Amino acid sequence: MAHGTVVNGRTAVVTGAASGIGRALAQRLAANGCPVALCDWDQEGLEETAAAISGPVLTRRLDVSDRHGQMAFAAEVKEWAPAPIGLVANNAGVTVSQTAADAAVEDDEWVLNINFWGVVHGTRAFLPILLAQGDGAIVNVSSVFGLIGFPTQSAYCASKFAVRGYTESLRHELRDTRVRAITVHPGGIKTNIVKNARFHVDDQGNRDHGAMADEFARIARTSPASAAKTIHTGVEKGKDRILIGPDAAVISLLSRAAPVRYFDVMERAMGLVRR
Ligand SMILES: NC(=O)c1ccc[n+]([C@@H]2O[C@H](COP(=O)([O-])OP(=O)(O)OC[C@H]3O[C@@H](n4cnc5c(N)ncnc54)[C@H](O)[C@@H]3O)[C@@H](O)[C@H]2O)c1
Repeated sequence: MAHGTVVNGRTAVVTGAASGIGRALAQRLAANGCPVALCDWDQEGLEETAAAISGPVLTRRLDVSDRHGQMAFAAEVKEWAPAPIGLVANNAGVTVSQTAADAAVEDDEWVLNINFWGVVHGTRAFLPILLAQGDGAIVNVSSVFGLIGFPTQSAYCASKFAVRGYTESLRHELRDTRVRAITVHPGGIKTNIVKNARFHVDDQGNRDHGAMADEFARIARTSPASAAKTIHTGVEKGKDRILIGPDAAVISLLSRAAPVRYFDVMERAMGLVRR
């Protein structure tokens, strides 16, 4: 494990801060004395997040898959930041639920552009600032679906495996610096991720988006606030890989114990949970 990063009191950057994990992380860091620079493409949600924050806050409407927009945002944050940057959380993400056989290329590109390229653009925009400062953390949000594959989540899993590969490579490149590259692998977190998905069919063959969102709300046990706490304390403690929730711990173990047959075990376990 690497050295920890000082987070409290330093500027924090969070993408996808209008909802879910990003909103909770922004609010938690602000409560710990961090000036926060927040972006999202949902302007209304972003303003709601900012309204609940009493300290310095910068908000910018931004599509994270827009490379030039990310560069402009980083320049703006550098100019604005009342304190050096402690962490940059590349968190914005979306998913599509569809079989690989029937997937529309537009849907797959949508997911890859936001989840993978959004993280790459955010990293490339802010990394030079952290390197010039001499410290700080790039915190890239992958998923448990960056550890295992899952039916109807081929594009999402591809994007999250890609985030992991990109971030782990960067971590090794940075090993002689005090800048860190951290991967976050959340399990099920009670957020709007499924509600906001492009939904066609789930792994059970169901085509009802509302029912799927309800089932996700039932199964996802971890709150966004708890996820934000795990990320915050993990960065401070110097963790390179942050797993969120008991389900993430089990999936991480399973992926190593049964790297090829893990889905056989999961299918049986999920059958029991559904019953
Ligand atoms: N909720 C879970 O169970 C879970 C599990 C594993 C990983 N994750 C990851 O956590 C991250 C946060 O998701 P969440 O669960 O809080 O979902 P969420 O839908 O509640 O929040 C995601 C936020 O990202 C924003 N966003 C989406 N596309 C964007 C774009 N192109 N530009 C700017 N903002 C954009 C949305 O507007 C939203 O505010 C995502 O990367 C997601 O893949 C979530």
